[in-house]
Amino acid sequence: MRFTLPQVLTPAELATLQQTLGAADFVDGKLTAGWHAKAVKQNQQLAAKTPTAQSLKTLVRQALNRHPLFQAAVRPRHIHSLLFSRYCEGMAYGRHTDNALMGGSNHWRSDVSFTLFLNAPEDYSGGELVMEGADEEQAYKLAAGAAIVYPSTTLHRVEPVTAGTRLVAVGWVQSLVRSPAQREILFDLETVQRSLYAQQGKTDEFDLLSKSLANLLRSWAE
Ligand code: NI
Repeated sequence: MRFTLPQVLTPAELATLQQTLGAADFVDGKLTAGWHAKAVKQNQQLAAKTPTAQSLKTLVRQALNRHPLFQAAVRPRHIHSLLFSRYCEGMAYGRHTDNALMGGSNHWRSDVSFTLFLNAPEDYSGGELVMEGADEEQAYKLAAGAAIVYPSTTLHRVEPVTAGTRLVAVGWVQSLVRSPAQREILFDLETVQRSLYAQQGKTDEFDLLSKSLANLLRSWAE
């Protein structure tokens, strides 16, 4: 399931990220790409291990973890990897699939990927994130503070930036539920559960649905 999250960040959090990243040093993005993604990755990223990077990562993790739609649709076990990327004029990231395993010897699985946009679409030309399907493509260029969340199994690319600078946070999540189809079933059932409760309160039907939802999650969570 692919979906957009409006307003992941508060205006104050967005300002903190923009100001801090505006004054920070960036390094070549090829440092964190797999061997074949390296060939098509042309961007810059914030050096990952600095105290600045750690505090910005904490800020983004907290923002996502408090977001109800992110919780219901992704069921994160751990947001294990986060990068702050900058694309200046002429930079792009050609078609690739994100690495299946990340975090070195920790072997975190990437089930879900996200891109959180950190500056306004008017600040740059080009730079769309394009999801490639079997016979259609979908391009995303969202407002500052909004995110696109998608299965890590997807082929995707970032179109060349032709003017200005594109600033994003990109991240990867290991979900409690590995299968996208199972995550979607849980999300749909939870949506119905909440709607039933809002309309009719704690009925017999609500209790049975809640039991099924809990037992499916118990079977599928790992
Ligand atoms: Ni990617």
